[in-house]
Amino acid sequence: MRRVVLVGFMAAGKSTIGARLARRLGWDFLDMDRRIEERLGLSVAEAFARLGEPAFRAEEEAVARELQGREALVVAAGGGAFAEQRTRALLRTDALCVWLRVPLAVVEARIGAGSDRPLAANRARIPALFALRATSYALADAVVDVGAGAPDEEAQRVFEVVLACRSDRRR
Ligand code: S3P
Repeated sequence: MRRVVLVGFMAAGKSTIGARLARRLGWDFLDMDRRIEERLGLSVAEAFARLGEPAFRAEEEAVARELQGREALVVAAGGGAFAEQRTRALLRTDALCVWLRVPLAVVEARIGAGSDRPLAANRARIPALFALRATSYALADAVVDVGAGAPDEEAQRVFEVVLACRSDRRR
């Protein structure tokens, strides 16, 4: 296991927990959305507006490919990355993928009216997207329920799952 990839719906806490998990493991941390912004010189919202969603998904795939050589890395995937078959295959290679499963009510509370997430702009679409995405996230190697605890407590639980999976894979 060279990498840990955190997947899950928007606002699950992938970036917040991922950074804390990386510190616990003594690994580097990479946020896919931030990497795409760096590559494009655009915010995620600008990328969706100016280039369109297919171009954004192509960037996600390119970033997932970039990661292939990296070791000791925690990755916070964008909420849609694991729903794309090719990107998912890249993210799963040599990695432990952990689904941070958050209740829909927590997502809706966290995504306020002024969200800068393009796919959350139409709040009425969130429940259907949430249900659809769950079928992809379920392909992860492990699940950790989040949304109710403090970030450090949730990161600690993910850390424990990672350690347990690591020793299982060594056996
Ligand atoms: C998306 C989730 C966002 C970002 C983009 C698309 C999605 O990431 O990649 O707005 O398709 O669910 P977060 O999950 O970090 O919000």
